[in-house]
Amino acid sequence: MKQVIFLVGFMGAGKSLLGKELAKKMQFSFLDSDEEIEKRMGLTVEQIFEKYGEEEFRKIETEWLGNLKTDCTIVSLGGGTPCYNGNMHMIRSLGQSVYLECTPEVLADRLAKAKTPRPLIAGYKNNPESLLEFIRLKLTGREKYYRFSNYIIDGSAEVNTSVKQLLKVFKY
Ligand code: S3P
Repeated sequence: MKQVIFLVGFMGAGKSLLGKELAKKMQFSFLDSDEEIEKRMGLTVEQIFEKYGEEEFRKIETEWLGNLKTDCTIVSLGGGTPCYNGNMHMIRSLGQSVYLECTPEVLADRLAKAKTPRPLIAGYKNNPESLLEFIRLKLTGREKYYRFSNYIIDGSAEVNTSVKQLLKVFKY
């Protein structure tokens, strides 16, 4: 059986950091869906949203996922990827999935400090209350997709703790 582990969760949940660390420990490759799409398009995610809009970005994500042929890989997915076009079913058929669960408060705190430009929250970055409100609403709509993952872990735990936990889960 192919060994592909998808990390899913909201923006700021820590998918990329955990993915890189876990990949090192398991001697797996690491892929970040946003980075792969950026390479393929020759544009940043921000530019793709600006030039083509969110709907087109969602199509590109689904197409990227559909063409994914990899093994022994940890894949960090964009926060919205599991929530559109039935992608969560595809994710489940391609490998195992882990949801990094975080409270809206933790996410808001991290996202307010984050440097990566994220088009969906660009308008809220300097307004902590509306950022928190946006996260609450969006997360409520997205959680049912995230929770369809095979495993759920605490996204606010230390990265080393989560790595150890997942090494046990995946028997490494
Ligand atoms: C998005 C999350 C981003 C990126 C894009 C849209 C979302 O990825 O795919 O800005 O819809 O939640 P991260 O979760 O890595 O920030």
